[in-house]
Amino acid sequence: MMGISSIPNKMAERPIGVFDSGVGGLSVWRVLVEQLPHESTLYLADQAHVPYGVRTHAEIENLTHAAAHWLILHGAKLLVIACNTASAAALTSLRERWPDIPIVGMEPAVKPASERTQTGKVGVMATPGTLEAARFTSLIERFANGVEVHTRVCPGLVDWVESGQLNGPNLTHQLHYFLDPLTQADIDQLVLGCTHYPFIADAIQQVAGAKVTLIDPAPAVTRQVERSLESLGMYAPPQSSPRHRFYTTADALALHAAVMRLIHPMSQLIQVAATNLEP
Ligand code: DGL
Repeated sequence: MMGISSIPNKMAERPIGVFDSGVGGLSVWRVLVEQLPHESTLYLADQAHVPYGVRTHAEIENLTHAAAHWLILHGAKLLVIACNTASAAALTSLRERWPDIPIVGMEPAVKPASERTQTGKVGVMATPGTLEAARFTSLIERFANGVEVHTRVCPGLVDWVESGQLNGPNLTHQLHYFLDPLTQADIDQLVLGCTHYPFIADAIQQVAGAKVTLIDPAPAVTRQVERSLESLGMYAPPQSSPRHRFYTTADALALHAAVMRLIHPMSQLIQVAATNLEP
């Protein structure tokens, strides 16, 4: 007779759904897959609508709900909203709509930055959608603790990463425009408040200078995913062979090229395809 513990946990074998407007969420995906090597993933990039950051709150919320619905219909056991902009607009309503699905979101890492600063001044770079959201205001109220938080909206920066321009003099020039006010304000911690930015971290570091520490929230998000899987008993079994599937609402060949460029070592493991979000 089969004991309880040997009944396969089908739910646990399902993939983790990872969502971003584009390729930015791959900066979270790569840490997730490294830390959780038995887990399968289902990545959705809504590149038909990227960038989200310049859209209205209602538009971002609707698009994020459509994406989450698609991931759930395709079997995701847990959702990672690997996009600060989508999380700012939709995390609360997503959790209300799907109370039984664990949903891990992102928010700019103001808390660790405020804890680590020596100068008492931290910088946050993010999209307009993230910095203008009520969620961000509440984050500052809760965690800045008297530390000066200097924000900088960086419209257009997502497009550089989407188009694969990760360095060069034009990007450096653009970054000086965004970051010089922050470095002049004597920040020593710089929060990468958009998941696209870790892919241009070298260029950002060069412009911000060696005295500034960049904070990429991907490891913290991964720990949150681990805690959820642990508490719900939903870790994939160690004998499972993970599958990584990538979908875009735009051009599959372009997403494939981006995946090769941005997370190359793992690219032999992947399948890439196009989809639309209609159920
Ligand atoms: N990766 C998204 C974020 O973390 C980019 C949003 C956009 O599409 O503008 O905010």
